[in-house]
Amino acid sequence: MKITFVAAALVLATPALAADSGEYLARAADCVACHTAPGGTPYAGGREFKLPFGTIYSPNITPDPETGVGAYTDAEWVAALHDGIGHGGRHLFPAMPYNSYTLMSSQDALAIKGYLFSLKPVHAPATPDRLRFPFNQRWGMAFWNILNNPRHRFEADSTKSADWNRGAYLVQALGHCDQCHTPRNWMQGLKNGSAYSGARQVGWLAYNITSDPVHGIGGWKDQDLEHYLATGTAPGHGPASGPMAEVITNSTRFMTPADIHAMVVYLRSIPPVAAGPEVVAASVAPAPVDPLGASVFAAACQGCHLPTGSGRQSAWAALGGDHAVGDPNGTNMVQILAHGSDMQTPSGYVFMHAFTGAFTDAELAAVANYVTAQLGGRQSQVTPEKIAAARAE
Ligand code: HEC
Ligand code: HEC
Ligand code: HEC
Repeated sequence: MKITFVAAALVLATPALAADSGEYLARAADCVACHTAPGGTPYAGGREFKLPFGTIYSPNITPDPETGVGAYTDAEWVAALHDGIGHGGRHLFPAMPYNSYTLMSSQDALAIKGYLFSLKPVHAPATPDRLRFPFNQRWGMAFWNILNNPRHRFEADSTKSADWNRGAYLVQALGHCDQCHTPRNWMQGLKNGSAYSGARQVGWLAYNITSDPVHGIGGWKDQDLEHYLATGTAPGHGPASGPMAEVITNSTRFMTPADIHAMVVYLRSIPPVAAGPEVVAASVAPAPVDPLGASVFAAACQGCHLPTGSGRQSAWAALGGDHAVGDPNGTNMVQILAHGSDMQTPSGYVFMHAFTGAFTDAELAAVANYVTAQLGGRQSQVTPEKIAAARAE
């Protein structure tokens, strides 16, 4: 009894991070997601980015003067975040989302620098890029920047509430939600005319999050959206997986309830776009039950998801209403079967393992179509070839 009491007191005594502290802002901007190799030291870099013209690796942004960012002056730091110009005038590729961070205040950019410079320097030399000519000519980015980097700071809109302004700043300048949720133009810039209407992101669909009631999140209750961003799942909407599970793990679950609320106030105001990367077909009669899909589901899925998809012991395994089970292309379903997904939540770690060796491509295609029909009420056409392609990625 006494021990429990002491532990609870310790938890209460740990102060929450102030919403303007460098550490909090670094989380809200999710610097760690890209600047950490799988299983590597946070911020020491080495994560791979496949671009249309080659592969680059995120650099070490710990304060090591030789292999990290220790030599950056304040002015150079701000230029890296706002303009995509690194130490010594080196042009950065927009895999570093400076076309979102350009909206960040210089004060917040420097608070993040202060936090990163307080970390232990890690000696981690850069992994060399593999880029084809002429794309290895970094100065070419100057033209891209003229056309695709807005290069101005966030400006408060005095006709809107304080919550709306805070939310807009968090979503646009720090959270860089548009980098995954906004479609891209032929130059890989963001198509601002259809902002947040959904896009493909490393094989996954980042859904339409405009206020459209059918294609977007207009049909969600405020409290469900808040719950999703704070915990990674929402009643009646399923869990966040893949890239979004990473956003929850590294970033939004650390945000204050007031900031989560502000983001939702802003998301609600995004003009509806009645389209999306996925075809949201009107609900059609579900396909006749495929015995192969049903037997794979019973053997491999229902232990965690339950026959009804309502989730055993964990709200994160509840799939009812989930966008992923209502997609006739089965895009994210295929991704999660091929690659699995995991997430840190306020109630602990949740995961679904990848289905690698034990099932054939045909079995996984059958179970994907079965789940879409049974839990999503739609027909999907996931083929064994689609599963094979995702597994080979
Ligand atoms: C979506 C992935 C992504 C996120 C998020 C991200 N970065 Fe980067 N960052 C990169 C990549 C990739 C590069 C290397 C770009 C290149 O080689 O042109 C980079 C480069 C940099 C550089 C240049 C380092 C050098 O070696 O000169 C700095 C500084 C930097 N990032 C800081 C940050 C900070 C601070 C944050 C959070 C506010 C952040 N990054 C968030 C992907 C990201
Ligand atoms: C790294 C890419 C990435 C970033 C950055 C990102 N998202 Fe997502 N988001 C996704 C993907 C992929 C999904 C689909 C996840 C799934 O199928 O479970 C998603 C799903 C969502 C959903 C659920 C939509 C639905 O219909 O089920 C919401 C809401 C959402 N994101 C909001 C945000 C907000 C707000 C931000 C910024 C704080 C953000 N996302 C940043 C990739 C991203
Ligand atoms: C070990 C328990 C477990 C098993 C077995 C399992 N899942 Fe999951 N599944 C989860 C959890 C937990 C999540 C949420 C975690 C996450 O997405 O990061 C999830 C998420 C999902 C999602 C949501 C994807 C999204 O983007 O919203 C789908 C679809 C899914 N599982 C289908 C299946 C199918 C089909 C099978 C069987 C072939 C299966 N699962 C087997 C635990 C499991």
